[in-house]
Amino acid sequence: MSEKFYKDHVVYQIYPRSFCDSNSDGIGDLQGIISKLDYLKDLGVDILWLSPIYPSPNFDYGYDISDYMDINPEYGTMKDFDQLIEQANKREMKIVMDLVVNHTSSEHRWFKESQNKGSPYHDYYIYKKGKKNNKKPPNNWTSNFMGEAWTYVDKCDEWYLHLFAPEQVDLNWKNEAVYQEVKKILEFWYSKGVYGFRCDVINQIYKTSLEDGKGNSLNRLKGGEHYISQEGCHKILNRFHNEVFSKQKDTMVVGETVSITIDQAKRFTSGDEIDMVFSFEHEDAPTYKLLPLVFKRFNPERFKQIMIKWQKNIDWNANYFENHDQLRSIDHYGSRKYHKESGKALGMLLLTLRGTPFIFQGEEIGQLDYDEYDEKNVKDIVPINIKKIISKIPLPKKMKNNFLFHYDRDNARAPFQWDKSIYAGFSSVEPWNKVTETSAHINYELQKNDPDSIFNFYRDLLAYRKKNKALSIGSIEFDPKAPKGVFAYYRTLNKDKFKVIINLNKKEVKYINLDIGEEILKSRSDMKVGYLLPYEAVLIKL
Ligand code: NOJ
Repeated sequence: MSEKFYKDHVVYQIYPRSFCDSNSDGIGDLQGIISKLDYLKDLGVDILWLSPIYPSPNFDYGYDISDYMDINPEYGTMKDFDQLIEQANKREMKIVMDLVVNHTSSEHRWFKESQNKGSPYHDYYIYKKGKKNNKKPPNNWTSNFMGEAWTYVDKCDEWYLHLFAPEQVDLNWKNEAVYQEVKKILEFWYSKGVYGFRCDVINQIYKTSLEDGKGNSLNRLKGGEHYISQEGCHKILNRFHNEVFSKQKDTMVVGETVSITIDQAKRFTSGDEIDMVFSFEHEDAPTYKLLPLVFKRFNPERFKQIMIKWQKNIDWNANYFENHDQLRSIDHYGSRKYHKESGKALGMLLLTLRGTPFIFQGEEIGQLDYDEYDEKNVKDIVPINIKKIISKIPLPKKMKNNFLFHYDRDNARAPFQWDKSIYAGFSSVEPWNKVTETSAHINYELQKNDPDSIFNFYRDLLAYRKKNKALSIGSIEFDPKAPKGVFAYYRTLNKDKFKVIINLNKKEVKYINLDIGEEILKSRSDMKVGYLLPYEAVLIKL
């Protein structure tokens, strides 16, 4: 057993709003999560990361926090939270919180007070006089959510910075008081018994300068060279490491790191800052070509090369194919036609690469995106903002909708599909976000007793991984001769050795496996000698 729990255990991300509604208001909640702890235990996951559950006006559904030390009443109370920790611990599971401290909600008490220039809270945020007699923003930075990154405030006659929505106001990390506030927040949740934190856009928190950015204004990160992965950010994380993280018996701190390079990732995870980073490069293997309205098809070889690069260069990766911001992985990297096979093949990859796997709720049953973009249903601020911008471009509606669909995070936030009933067993009333069209035939109820289901594939593999540490902490070595789009690698620990072969191509590929061993798990039961069938994946004990 490794001394760090997260090294040989698996994380499951819960988007609480869409997981399980216990009180029939159409919104998921903490009691809903508690009622599913046995499900999660049975699945075989060990660490539950909860997307934000703090009070929030929900401009960005919790990623705009108005009180860091309380629970959003939509989700329950602090008593419910204490019960969740207790019940999770009883099942040897741990809870990880989402820490969103690049920005606070504009409804946070600090921001409200900050608008008085004389208040000590003024310096909690980044205020500045604008250009052109204060008529124009202080610089040309763009928001990650499109448009200008500055908003003018009448009351103090200054502009404030927001790298996301105007309702998400960037904190001023040059102010020691901000550091001390966040330290208190971390200590508060540790004292409640949480295991660690997932830190939202953590490599953007420190703004070295407020100079104009280079590049064109279509770039969502224009100005990024002044705030992405800055020296000041490393210093802050190092201080948290020394003063808070390293004081815990064991903890897991994973940073969401935008536009992260291998070198920067190494630095963040070198032992005195945070444990892991979420990188994004593989997400873009299927990406747009024509600026930016036509999407390329997924290229499995490109995807493989990116994954291998990160596996080879970073000792311990945070592996994920889905989260609350991404399209569902079968739609993103797999195939609806081969729903079951590609769902299992991706599961095999996720759970056997070196690093800590992060499963997103619903991934274990192969949940899919909506069938198409539905204007009436949109809840997410991203497609709403993009629509405002592209509405002026004369292009066919279908093309625009296709484009908006790819950025619509509602897809990942559809209710969890527990059963085939009208609201998918998520709630007894109409949910806050629509159930997907495929819920009647893709749901837990249908899969739980089917030995061939994606759910049972995950369950079996998780159980096997738990007993065979080579698959978690063992070394990894890739076969450079594997055909295009085929992953072939060895996982080794002491005398235990495994081979994993995964065909991520939609078509069959010639491949002769020369390694002899016992087949432990396969994504499909049929086979063709000398070939790998579409999405054929196999785990072999050598
Ligand atoms: C990254 C989060 O994952 C996303 O959901 C959120 O909108 C932004 N950060 C802003 O907090």
